[in-house]
Amino acid sequence: MKKVLVTYYSRTGNTAEMARMIADGLVDKGLEVILKRVEEVNMDSITEFDGFVVGSPNYFGTMAWPVKKFVDESVKFFKKLDGKAAAAFTSEGMIGGGGDLVVLDILKAFLIHGCVVQGLTSAGHFGPVAVGKPDERIGKEVAVLVEKFAALVERL
Ligand SMILES: Cc1cc2nc3c(=O)[nH]c(=O)nc-3n(C[C@H](O)[C@H](O)[C@H](O)COP(=O)(O)O)c2cc1C
Repeated sequence: MKKVLVTYYSRTGNTAEMARMIADGLVDKGLEVILKRVEEVNMDSITEFDGFVVGSPNYFGTMAWPVKKFVDESVKFFKKLDGKAAAAFTSEGMIGGGGDLVVLDILKAFLIHGCVVQGLTSAGHFGPVAVGKPDERIGKEVAVLVEKFAALVERL
């Protein structure tokens, strides 16, 4: 069974709620899912995963520092995550607040690790961007992400 890490930072709960939605969806698709706050991830375990779904609130148009810390510490495993799958999501305060930039910043780091990223044609193109608490629109975006990400993980 393929194993994926869904990890996130969240201060007021919105990104955490998205992470739970994504993790539940991936479990329904038959994947083994570890859901953890980013501060609680054991870095030495990350090579065990076949894929990563990483979420952060939008802080000034980029990821919150605990997520950046996780990314920076992952350098220890540079070249060891090559060919694994990656996806990202965010919650922001306002439409146009820069959420796509957050998602792209996270994805950029995983691309540098050699991970494989799938763009989305029928949802937010780079990954789900909630405005505050995830709503019905985000439910649909998450469903698309889950479907595409689960299929990608199985293919790789
Ligand atoms: C330090 C800080 C910076 C923020 N910067 C932005 C921003 O640039 N654009 C935006 O739309 N929202 C911004 N927000 C709002 C958060 O992204 C938003 O409230 C988000 O839903 C919080 O997610 P959480 O509930 O998972 O902590 C910022 C919030 C904080 C605390």
